[in-house]
Amino acid sequence: MSTNGTTTSTLIALRDPTSPAAEAYRTLRTNIQFSSLDKPLHTLLVTSTAPDEGKSTTLANLAVTMAQAEQRVILVDCDLRRPSLHTLFNLPNQVGLTSMILQEETAPLPLLETSVPGLSLLASGPLPPRPADLLGSRRMETLIARLRDEADMVLFDTPPVIAVTDAAVLATRLDGVLLVLQAGKTRRDRAREARRLLEKVKANIVGVILNNARQEAGYGYYA
Ligand SMILES: Nc1ncnc2c1ncn2[C@@H]1O[C@H](COP(=O)(O)OP(=O)(O)OP(=O)(O)O)[C@@H](O)[C@H]1O
Ligand SMILES: [Mg+2]
Repeated sequence: MSTNGTTTSTLIALRDPTSPAAEAYRTLRTNIQFSSLDKPLHTLLVTSTAPDEGKSTTLANLAVTMAQAEQRVILVDCDLRRPSLHTLFNLPNQVGLTSMILQEETAPLPLLETSVPGLSLLASGPLPPRPADLLGSRRMETLIARLRDEADMVLFDTPPVIAVTDAAVLATRLDGVLLVLQAGKTRRDRAREARRLLEKVKANIVGVILNNARQEAGYGYYA
């Protein structure tokens, strides 16, 4: 299903803003705002223990609700193994993060406008041979600083933290981490392992999101 050039089936915050799911994303947005009042969070990444737990869907809907609250938001696809944010917003992926890293440091950011006012996307770009090296590079640090200057909130999508080091490498450079767990599916020992890996690099875990929870339970969140 597609409206306004956007794949709205998974972007429920856009397709059906009065739904309980959209409300849950707004609650998540509010909790993030209140979780760190003295030191506001400007850069956040989302990760999980395993593939397909709903990282990209959660991040994209959170980005939509933040933009709807009149924040300037940039989504950055740092899942340089299975990028999907461009597909969610029905945008191309010819240029993006990886092309930026290869260009002059001052080259314009190849940000793509989404159908949501205030929300833009830095797609992954062509997939690199060694994603963790790229994410840990000094060029990446400069790029994060530039993105931070361009928006109120910069949200980074990453691969699962247990499989590869990408998320942990990036977490050390950002204000906070959101960990997505899948209700009834994520194994407890894997959730603990994900937390251990993030704490080892001194990442600031600001929230755990329980995705696909039964409707009565709503979306879990704690800081
Ligand atoms: N709360 C939800 N309700 C229904 N479907 C969902 C929900 N969250 C995610 N999905 C669906 O589950 C699938 C995987 O979601 P998504 O791509 O967001 O996961 P991911 O963790 O980013 O996966 P990957 O590891 O490939 O990056 C998608 O088809 C998505 O539409
Ligand atoms: Mg994903």
